[in-house]
Amino acid sequence: MSDILLDIQELSVTYDTVRGPVQAVSELSLQLPRGASIGIVGESGCGKTTLAKALIRLLPANGKISGGSIRFDGVNIARLSPAELRDMRWREIAMVPQSAMNSLNPVYQVGAQLVETMVVRQRMAKSAAWERAGELFKMVGIDPGRLHDYPHQFSGGMKQRATIALAMTLSPKLIIADEPTTALDVLVEARILNLLRDLKQTHGLTLIYITHDLSVVARTCDLMGVMYAGKLVEFGPTEQVIRRPLHPYTMGLIAAVPKGSIRGWEPVTIPGSPPELIHKLEGCRFVQRCPFATARCAVDTPALAEGAPGHWAACHYLDQAEQMREDARIPLTWARSRAGALEAI
Ligand SMILES: Nc1ncnc2c1ncn2[C@@H]1O[C@H](COP(=O)(O)OP(=O)(O)OP(=O)(O)O)[C@@H](O)[C@H]1O
Ligand SMILES: [Mg+2]
Repeated sequence: MSDILLDIQELSVTYDTVRGPVQAVSELSLQLPRGASIGIVGESGCGKTTLAKALIRLLPANGKISGGSIRFDGVNIARLSPAELRDMRWREIAMVPQSAMNSLNPVYQVGAQLVETMVVRQRMAKSAAWERAGELFKMVGIDPGRLHDYPHQFSGGMKQRATIALAMTLSPKLIIADEPTTALDVLVEARILNLLRDLKQTHGLTLIYITHDLSVVARTCDLMGVMYAGKLVEFGPTEQVIRRPLHPYTMGLIAAVPKGSIRGWEPVTIPGSPPELIHKLEGCRFVQRCPFATARCAVDTPALAEGAPGHWAACHYLDQAEQMREDARIPLTWARSRAGALEAI
Protein backbone atom coordinates (compact mmCIF):
# COMPACT_ATOMS: atom_id res chain seq x y z
CA MET A 1 0.00 0.00 0.00
CA SER A 2 1.50 3.29 -1.10
CA ASP A 3 1.85 6.09 1.42
CA ILE A 4 0.40 8.50 -1.10
CA LEU A 5 -3.41 8.45 -1.01
CA LEU A 6 -3.97 11.18 -3.57
CA ASP A 7 -1.64 11.86 -6.46
CA ILE A 8 -2.58 14.81 -8.67
CA GLN A 9 -0.42 15.38 -11.73
CA GLU A 10 -0.62 18.46 -13.97
CA LEU A 11 -4.37 18.79 -13.41
CA SER A 12 -6.19 21.41 -15.49
CA VAL A 13 -9.91 22.18 -15.26
CA THR A 14 -11.74 24.35 -17.79
CA TYR A 15 -15.22 25.86 -17.78
CA ASP A 16 -16.95 26.70 -21.04
CA THR A 17 -18.55 30.13 -20.80
CA VAL A 18 -20.19 32.50 -23.26
CA ARG A 19 -17.04 34.63 -23.12
CA GLY A 20 -14.79 31.67 -23.89
CA PRO A 21 -13.01 28.97 -21.91
CA VAL A 22 -12.02 29.75 -18.31
CA GLN A 23 -9.11 27.69 -17.03
CA ALA A 24 -9.94 27.63 -13.34
CA VAL A 25 -7.19 25.13 -12.39
CA SER A 26 -3.90 25.08 -14.31
CA GLU A 27 -1.41 22.22 -14.35
CA LEU A 28 -1.69 21.59 -10.66
CA SER A 29 0.39 18.78 -9.13
CA LEU A 30 0.09 17.67 -5.52
CA GLN A 31 0.71 14.49 -3.56
CA LEU A 32 -1.15 13.88 -0.36
CA PRO A 33 0.10 11.22 2.06
CA ARG A 34 -2.41 8.91 3.75
CA GLY A 35 -3.63 10.33 7.06
CA ALA A 36 -2.39 13.87 6.34
CA SER A 37 -4.44 17.04 6.46
CA ILE A 38 -3.85 19.80 3.98
CA GLY A 39 -5.29 23.30 4.06
CA ILE A 40 -5.82 24.97 0.69
CA VAL A 41 -5.90 28.76 0.86
CA GLY A 42 -6.14 31.56 -1.67
CA GLU A 43 -8.34 34.51 -2.53
CA SER A 44 -11.86 34.18 -3.87
CA GLY A 45 -11.91 32.86 -7.43
CA CYS A 46 -8.48 31.20 -7.28
CA GLY A 47 -9.91 27.75 -8.09
CA LYS A 48 -10.18 26.07 -4.70
CA THR A 49 -13.75 24.79 -5.07
CA THR A 50 -13.07 23.82 -8.68
CA LEU A 51 -10.14 21.69 -7.53
CA ALA A 52 -12.31 20.04 -4.86
CA LYS A 53 -15.10 19.29 -7.33
CA ALA A 54 -12.68 17.91 -9.91
CA LEU A 55 -11.24 15.53 -7.32
CA ILE A 56 -14.64 13.99 -6.73
CA ARG A 57 -15.75 14.51 -10.37
CA LEU A 58 -18.68 16.69 -9.41
CA LEU A 59 -17.97 19.55 -11.81
CA PRO A 60 -21.00 21.33 -13.29
CA ALA A 61 -21.99 20.45 -16.87
CA ASN A 62 -19.86 23.23 -18.40
CA GLY A 63 -16.74 22.17 -16.47
CA LYS A 64 -14.30 19.46 -17.51
CA ILE A 65 -10.91 18.05 -16.62
CA SER A 66 -8.91 19.33 -19.59
CA GLY A 67 -5.56 17.82 -18.69
CA GLY A 68 -3.56 15.77 -16.23
CA SER A 69 -4.49 12.92 -13.94
CA ILE A 70 -5.87 12.24 -10.47
CA ARG A 71 -4.99 8.95 -8.85
CA PHE A 72 -6.82 8.08 -5.66
CA ASP A 73 -5.41 5.05 -3.88
CA GLY A 74 -3.87 3.97 -7.17
CA VAL A 75 -7.08 4.42 -9.23
CA ASN A 76 -7.23 6.99 -12.03
CA ILE A 77 -10.37 8.96 -11.20
CA ALA A 78 -10.62 10.53 -14.64
CA ARG A 79 -11.14 7.08 -16.21
CA LEU A 80 -13.92 5.81 -13.92
CA SER A 81 -17.36 5.07 -15.39
CA PRO A 82 -20.37 6.87 -13.84
CA ALA A 83 -21.29 3.70 -11.95
CA GLU A 84 -17.75 3.25 -10.60
CA LEU A 85 -17.72 6.91 -9.59
CA ARG A 86 -21.00 6.62 -7.72
CA ASP A 87 -19.58 3.65 -5.90
CA MET A 88 -16.49 5.58 -4.91
CA ARG A 89 -18.18 8.80 -3.76
CA TRP A 90 -19.05 8.80 -0.06
CA ARG A 91 -17.49 5.37 0.42
CA GLU A 92 -13.93 6.48 -0.50
CA ILE A 93 -14.11 10.26 -0.81
CA ALA A 94 -16.76 12.45 0.75
CA MET A 95 -17.24 16.16 0.39
CA VAL A 96 -18.63 18.75 2.77
CA PRO A 97 -19.62 21.34 0.17
CA GLN A 98 -19.13 25.11 0.44
CA SER A 99 -22.88 25.60 0.70
CA ALA A 100 -23.15 22.82 3.28
CA MET A 101 -25.78 24.79 5.19
CA ASN A 102 -28.21 24.16 2.34
CA SER A 103 -27.07 20.70 1.35
CA LEU A 104 -29.45 18.79 3.60
CA ASN A 105 -32.74 17.89 1.95
CA PRO A 106 -35.40 20.09 3.63
CA VAL A 107 -38.22 17.55 3.27
CA TYR A 108 -36.46 14.62 4.97
CA GLN A 109 -35.62 14.15 8.62
CA VAL A 110 -31.90 14.68 9.09
CA GLY A 111 -31.37 11.22 10.55
CA ALA A 112 -33.27 9.63 7.68
CA GLN A 113 -30.77 11.13 5.24
CA LEU A 114 -27.92 9.37 7.00
CA VAL A 115 -29.93 6.15 7.25
CA GLU A 116 -30.82 6.16 3.56
CA THR A 117 -27.16 6.49 2.59
CA MET A 118 -26.26 3.47 4.72
CA VAL A 119 -29.22 1.34 3.62
CA VAL A 120 -28.74 2.05 -0.09
CA ARG A 121 -24.95 2.14 -0.24
CA GLN A 122 -23.98 -0.39 2.41
CA ARG A 123 -27.12 -2.52 2.30
CA MET A 124 -27.35 -2.08 6.04
CA ALA A 125 -30.55 -3.14 7.84
CA LYS A 126 -32.70 -0.12 8.72
CA SER A 127 -32.59 -0.65 12.48
CA ALA A 128 -28.79 -0.97 12.47
CA ALA A 129 -28.54 2.13 10.28
CA TRP A 130 -30.62 4.20 12.74
CA GLU A 131 -28.36 3.02 15.52
CA ARG A 132 -25.25 3.98 13.57
CA ALA A 133 -26.84 7.37 12.70
CA GLY A 134 -27.24 7.98 16.42
CA GLU A 135 -23.57 7.17 16.97
CA LEU A 136 -22.57 9.55 14.17
CA PHE A 137 -24.73 12.29 15.73
CA LYS A 138 -22.99 11.75 19.07
CA MET A 139 -19.63 11.86 17.35
CA VAL A 140 -20.36 15.32 15.92
CA GLY A 141 -21.87 16.53 19.20
CA ILE A 142 -25.59 16.42 18.34
CA ASP A 143 -28.04 14.72 20.70
CA PRO A 144 -29.29 11.53 18.97
CA GLY A 145 -32.75 12.53 20.22
CA ARG A 146 -32.71 15.04 17.33
CA LEU A 147 -32.38 12.37 14.59
CA HIS A 148 -36.04 12.83 13.62
CA ASP A 149 -35.80 16.63 13.31
CA TYR A 150 -36.06 18.31 9.91
CA PRO A 151 -33.18 20.55 8.76
CA HIS A 152 -35.14 23.77 9.51
CA GLN A 153 -35.27 22.73 13.18
CA PHE A 154 -31.47 22.77 13.35
CA SER A 155 -29.28 25.81 13.95
CA GLY A 156 -26.66 26.66 11.32
CA GLY A 157 -23.87 25.05 13.35
CA MET A 158 -25.93 21.88 13.87
CA LYS A 159 -26.67 21.65 10.15
CA GLN A 160 -22.98 22.01 9.46
CA ARG A 161 -22.12 19.26 11.93
CA ALA A 162 -24.87 17.07 10.45
CA THR A 163 -23.30 17.42 6.99
CA ILE A 164 -20.01 16.26 8.50
CA ALA A 165 -21.85 13.27 10.03
CA LEU A 166 -23.34 12.61 6.58
CA ALA A 167 -19.86 12.72 5.05
CA MET A 168 -18.67 10.21 7.68
CA THR A 169 -21.53 7.70 7.22
CA LEU A 170 -19.57 5.34 4.97
CA SER A 171 -16.21 5.91 6.75
CA PRO A 172 -14.44 7.42 3.71
CA LYS A 173 -10.67 7.58 3.44
CA LEU A 174 -10.70 11.21 2.34
CA ILE A 175 -12.93 14.11 3.30
CA ILE A 176 -12.84 17.34 1.33
CA ALA A 177 -14.31 20.16 3.39
CA ASP A 178 -14.92 23.36 1.42
CA GLU A 179 -15.12 26.38 3.76
CA PRO A 180 -17.11 24.35 6.30
CA THR A 181 -17.02 26.97 9.04
CA THR A 182 -17.15 30.29 7.20
CA ALA A 183 -20.73 31.09 8.21
CA LEU A 184 -20.34 30.05 11.84
CA ASP A 185 -19.42 31.81 15.07
CA VAL A 186 -15.97 31.21 16.53
CA LEU A 187 -17.12 28.81 19.24
CA VAL A 188 -18.95 26.51 16.84
CA GLU A 189 -16.04 26.85 14.43
CA ALA A 190 -13.62 25.69 17.14
CA ARG A 191 -15.85 22.68 17.88
CA ILE A 192 -15.95 21.67 14.24
CA LEU A 193 -12.19 22.05 13.87
CA ASN A 194 -11.66 19.89 16.96
CA LEU A 195 -14.09 17.36 15.57
CA LEU A 196 -12.23 17.10 12.27
CA ARG A 197 -8.93 16.80 14.10
CA ASP A 198 -10.33 14.00 16.29
CA LEU A 199 -11.73 12.16 13.27
CA LYS A 200 -8.34 12.37 11.65
CA GLN A 201 -6.66 10.88 14.70
CA THR A 202 -9.20 8.20 15.56
CA HIS A 203 -10.23 7.15 12.03
CA GLY A 204 -6.95 7.79 10.19
CA LEU A 205 -8.90 10.15 7.96
CA THR A 206 -7.12 12.17 5.27
CA LEU A 207 -8.44 15.70 5.06
CA ILE A 208 -8.45 18.49 2.49
CA TYR A 209 -9.60 21.68 4.17
CA ILE A 210 -10.41 24.62 1.93
CA THR A 211 -10.58 28.03 3.52
CA HIS A 212 -9.40 31.60 3.17
CA ASP A 213 -8.63 31.72 6.89
CA LEU A 214 -4.92 31.10 7.50
CA SER A 215 -5.38 30.78 11.26
CA VAL A 216 -7.74 27.84 10.73
CA VAL A 217 -5.11 26.08 8.63
CA ALA A 218 -2.46 26.82 11.24
CA ARG A 219 -4.62 25.17 13.90
CA THR A 220 -5.88 22.22 11.87
CA CYS A 221 -3.60 21.12 9.05
CA ASP A 222 -0.15 19.50 8.82
CA LEU A 223 0.33 20.71 5.25
CA MET A 224 -0.68 23.82 3.42
CA GLY A 225 -1.11 24.69 -0.25
CA VAL A 226 -1.57 28.22 -1.59
CA MET A 227 -3.50 28.71 -4.82
CA TYR A 228 -3.31 31.81 -6.96
CA ALA A 229 -5.23 32.27 -10.22
CA GLY A 230 -5.69 28.52 -10.72
CA LYS A 231 -2.09 27.60 -9.90
CA LEU A 232 -0.55 26.04 -6.83
CA VAL A 233 2.12 28.63 -5.96
CA GLU A 234 3.34 27.26 -2.64
CA PHE A 235 3.15 23.97 -0.79
CA GLY A 236 4.78 22.59 2.35
CA PRO A 237 4.45 21.84 6.06
CA THR A 238 2.03 24.40 7.51
CA GLU A 239 4.34 25.72 10.20
CA GLN A 240 7.13 26.26 7.75
CA VAL A 241 4.92 27.94 5.15
CA ILE A 242 3.51 30.32 7.76
CA ARG A 243 6.84 31.10 9.45
CA ARG A 244 9.02 31.19 6.38
CA PRO A 245 6.87 31.69 3.28
CA LEU A 246 8.75 31.49 0.00
CA HIS A 247 6.26 33.02 -2.42
CA PRO A 248 5.51 36.77 -2.28
CA TYR A 249 1.76 36.05 -2.53
CA THR A 250 1.90 33.90 0.61
CA MET A 251 4.02 36.58 2.29
CA GLY A 252 1.29 39.12 1.49
CA LEU A 253 -1.52 36.86 2.72
CA ILE A 254 0.28 36.30 6.02
CA ALA A 255 1.16 39.97 6.50
CA ALA A 256 -2.49 40.84 5.80
CA VAL A 257 -3.80 38.84 8.78
CA PRO A 258 -4.72 41.34 11.52
CA LYS A 259 -2.60 40.85 14.64
CA GLY A 260 -4.72 42.75 17.13
CA SER A 261 -2.41 42.22 20.07
CA ILE A 262 0.62 43.99 18.60
CA ARG A 263 0.44 47.76 19.11
CA GLY A 264 1.45 49.94 16.23
CA TRP A 265 1.39 47.00 13.86
CA GLU A 266 -0.34 47.70 10.60
CA PRO A 267 -1.72 44.92 8.36
CA VAL A 268 -0.67 44.81 4.75
CA THR A 269 -3.12 44.97 1.87
CA ILE A 270 -2.20 43.40 -1.45
CA PRO A 271 -3.22 45.91 -4.12
CA GLY A 272 -5.21 44.82 -7.17
CA SER A 273 -6.99 41.51 -7.66
CA PRO A 274 -6.24 38.16 -9.31
CA PRO A 275 -6.19 38.18 -13.15
CA GLU A 276 -9.20 37.04 -15.17
CA LEU A 277 -8.71 33.38 -16.00
CA ILE A 278 -10.33 33.83 -19.39
CA HIS A 279 -7.16 35.38 -20.82
CA LYS A 280 -4.13 33.42 -21.84
CA LEU A 281 -1.71 34.18 -19.03
CA GLU A 282 2.02 34.35 -19.56
CA GLY A 283 4.77 34.63 -17.00
CA CYS A 284 4.06 34.66 -13.28
CA ARG A 285 0.35 35.24 -12.60
CA PHE A 286 1.16 37.36 -9.57
CA VAL A 287 3.38 39.75 -11.54
CA GLN A 288 1.03 42.77 -11.46
CA ARG A 289 0.63 42.66 -7.69
CA CYS A 290 4.12 41.59 -6.68
CA PRO A 291 6.40 44.30 -5.28
CA PHE A 292 9.46 42.21 -6.15
CA ALA A 293 8.60 41.44 -9.79
CA THR A 294 11.22 41.93 -12.49
CA ALA A 295 11.02 41.98 -16.30
CA ARG A 296 11.66 38.23 -16.29
CA CYS A 297 8.52 37.54 -14.22
CA ALA A 298 6.28 39.01 -16.94
CA VAL A 299 7.40 36.50 -19.56
CA ASP A 300 8.88 33.49 -17.84
CA THR A 301 6.46 31.25 -15.90
CA PRO A 302 8.12 30.01 -12.71
CA ALA A 303 7.79 26.28 -11.95
CA LEU A 304 7.41 24.92 -8.43
CA ALA A 305 10.89 24.44 -6.96
CA GLU A 306 11.94 23.03 -3.60
CA GLY A 307 13.21 26.02 -1.62
CA ALA A 308 13.56 24.07 1.65
CA PRO A 309 13.08 20.33 2.33
CA GLY A 310 9.47 19.45 1.41
CA HIS A 311 8.66 23.13 0.92
CA TRP A 312 7.94 24.21 -2.67
CA ALA A 313 7.15 27.53 -4.29
CA ALA A 314 6.75 28.88 -7.82
CA CYS A 315 8.92 32.01 -7.76
CA HIS A 316 12.11 32.81 -9.68
CA TYR A 317 13.63 34.39 -6.61
CA LEU A 318 13.52 31.72 -3.92
CA ASP A 319 17.11 32.61 -3.03
CA GLN A 320 15.95 36.11 -2.03
CA ALA A 321 13.01 34.91 0.08
CA GLU A 322 14.46 36.05 3.39
CA GLN A 323 14.85 39.66 2.31
CA MET A 324 11.45 39.61 0.59
CA ARG A 325 9.86 38.30 3.81
CA GLU A 326 11.23 41.23 5.75
CA ASP A 327 10.11 43.78 3.18
CA ALA A 328 6.70 42.16 2.74
CA ARG A 329 5.81 42.94 6.36
CA ILE A 330 5.91 46.67 5.59
CA PRO A 331 2.69 48.02 4.02
CA LEU A 332 4.60 50.57 1.90
CA THR A 333 6.45 47.78 0.10
CA TRP A 334 3.22 46.74 -1.58
CA ALA A 335 2.71 50.18 -3.12
CA ARG A 336 5.78 49.39 -5.26
CA SER A 337 3.91 46.75 -7.27
CA ARG A 338 2.40 47.68 -10.63
CA ALA A 339 -1.11 47.30 -9.20
CA GLY A 340 -0.07 49.45 -6.22
CA ALA A 341 1.25 52.19 -8.51
CA LEU A 342 -2.00 52.12 -10.52
CA GLU A 343 -4.08 52.40 -7.36
CA ALA A 344 -2.05 55.41 -6.26
CA ILE A 345 -2.95 57.38 -9.41
N1 LIG B 1 -19.81 26.95 -13.20
C1 LIG B 1 -18.88 27.83 -13.60
N2 LIG B 1 -18.89 28.34 -14.86
C2 LIG B 1 -17.93 29.20 -15.27
N3 LIG B 1 -16.94 29.63 -14.50
C3 LIG B 1 -16.87 29.18 -13.24
C4 LIG B 1 -17.85 28.27 -12.71
N4 LIG B 1 -17.53 28.01 -11.42
C5 LIG B 1 -16.42 28.72 -11.16
N5 LIG B 1 -16.01 29.43 -12.24
C6 LIG B 1 -14.83 30.30 -12.34
O1 LIG B 1 -13.70 29.52 -12.00
C7 LIG B 1 -12.80 30.29 -11.20
C8 LIG B 1 -12.53 29.58 -9.89
O2 LIG B 1 -13.73 29.52 -9.14
P1 LIG B 1 -13.83 28.70 -7.77
O3 LIG B 1 -15.26 28.68 -7.36
O4 LIG B 1 -13.14 27.40 -7.93
O5 LIG B 1 -12.97 29.64 -6.80
P2 LIG B 1 -12.75 29.57 -5.21
O6 LIG B 1 -11.29 29.68 -4.99
O7 LIG B 1 -13.45 28.41 -4.65
O8 LIG B 1 -13.43 30.93 -4.73
P3 LIG B 1 -14.23 31.26 -3.34
O9 LIG B 1 -13.17 31.49 -2.29
O10 LIG B 1 -14.98 32.51 -3.67
O11 LIG B 1 -15.12 30.10 -3.03
C9 LIG B 1 -13.41 31.67 -11.06
O12 LIG B 1 -12.85 32.49 -12.06
C10 LIG B 1 -14.87 31.43 -11.33
O13 LIG B 1 -15.47 32.58 -11.89
MG1 LIG C 1 -14.99 28.19 -3.31
